[in-house]
Amino acid sequence: MLTWIASQGGPLRGELRVPGDKSVSHRAIMLASLAEGVSRIEGFLEGEDTRATAAAFRAMGVRIESPSDGARIVHGVGLRGLSAPAADIDCGNAGTGMRLMAGVLAGQAFDSRLIGDASLSRRPMRRVTEPLARMGAQIDSEPGGLPPLRIHGGRVLRGIEYATPVASAQVKSAVLLAGLYAEGETVVREPHATRDYTERMLQAFGWPVEHREGEARLCGGGRLVARDIEVPADFSSAAFFIVAASVIPGSDLLLRDVGVHPRRTGLLRALRLMGADITLLDPRERQGEPIADLRVRHAALRGVEVPEDVVPDMIDEFPALFVAAALAEGRTRVSGAAELRVKESDRIGTMAQGLKALGARIEETPDGALIEGGTLDSGAVDSHGDHRIAMSFAIAGQRARGEVRIGDCDNVATSFPGFDALARGCGFGLREAVPG
Ligand code: S3P
Repeated sequence: MLTWIASQGGPLRGELRVPGDKSVSHRAIMLASLAEGVSRIEGFLEGEDTRATAAAFRAMGVRIESPSDGARIVHGVGLRGLSAPAADIDCGNAGTGMRLMAGVLAGQAFDSRLIGDASLSRRPMRRVTEPLARMGAQIDSEPGGLPPLRIHGGRVLRGIEYATPVASAQVKSAVLLAGLYAEGETVVREPHATRDYTERMLQAFGWPVEHREGEARLCGGGRLVARDIEVPADFSSAAFFIVAASVIPGSDLLLRDVGVHPRRTGLLRALRLMGADITLLDPRERQGEPIADLRVRHAALRGVEVPEDVVPDMIDEFPALFVAAALAEGRTRVSGAAELRVKESDRIGTMAQGLKALGARIEETPDGALIEGGTLDSGAVDSHGDHRIAMSFAIAGQRARGEVRIGDCDNVATSFPGFDALARGCGFGLREAVPG
């Protein structure tokens, strides 16, 4: 098991580009596989999560070439062209992979079974199996609605109108993807608008989708047409450098080509409320996706009440925000974020446990935390196999008075392979512990 040792390095300087967006990479593989013709994907995230999705579609008969790092050539088989996989489909650590694929597989003529690692096997799937069942799908899960998911093929799906109880792009996407195979119209409404990559990418592949904030609708029975996709750098990976440069004195860091979709960048709003110094340079669009270079300079941060309406727009960024809060002046309150408890780990619990081990004052609430800013000590923390927890404590180590030992870091490769080298390259003090 990989252990990291994080300790004070220099100020963060220079410029870097983080790897491709995880959400976009998953969807690009799925839609390119279901399209007619050959699609080329550039900037694909070479992470374990997204590679698992590519492996799944290969196992269902899609030819996917990897000519170079971050490039994929997908020979789409058309909406009805997948073939039955010979074995279980292993989604690894990826909730997005499993939930979106459940939507696709619900509409196939063959049976399939989706499995995942220990973390994914504890994550709730009823949020997708329930609406898919309403559409006519038959999906068996383990007690409590947990994976593995056994999906029965050959079912006739009907479009539904579905109001999602949780703001979740994964749930919305699973229903919309099943809607491609359904008779009639499928409508999804959300309590708070979430990332709309599925809607926009479906349109880019030629499938009409009507969507506005909080609502998406499409009709079954069309076709997807191959196209090339450029994947922007992942804001959620950039987030670790944004927070780190904000809290490390003397830092001045440039992050290139970052996707700055408003449904992803709530962290910028929260950090700016805290007093962060972040400038968006050269904002531009690439294939309809807003991107920018981000210049981040160190600033003295103060605690804030994180507005609840920003929570869905920064749902993956709370582990890093907790570290910023623990180093800020004054108290930060996070509320309305109960979803954090069902991510790759219980992110409220694991962050509270780790920050306490470093001497921080943090109190958990059912849907958030109260964090009293101050200083951090050396200590040992456990990331519980959660990539974002591991990278967040690597930031904590840059300001701790001594070394922070971070256990169980292998899963960083699920979303951000090469994080440690990139981090060292711009000034992080971070190394692997020698085993034994
Ligand atoms: C994602 C949606 C979010 C996010 C996850 C990726 C997606 O999950 O946390 O990392 O690509 O649709 P939820 O839909 O469960 O909020």
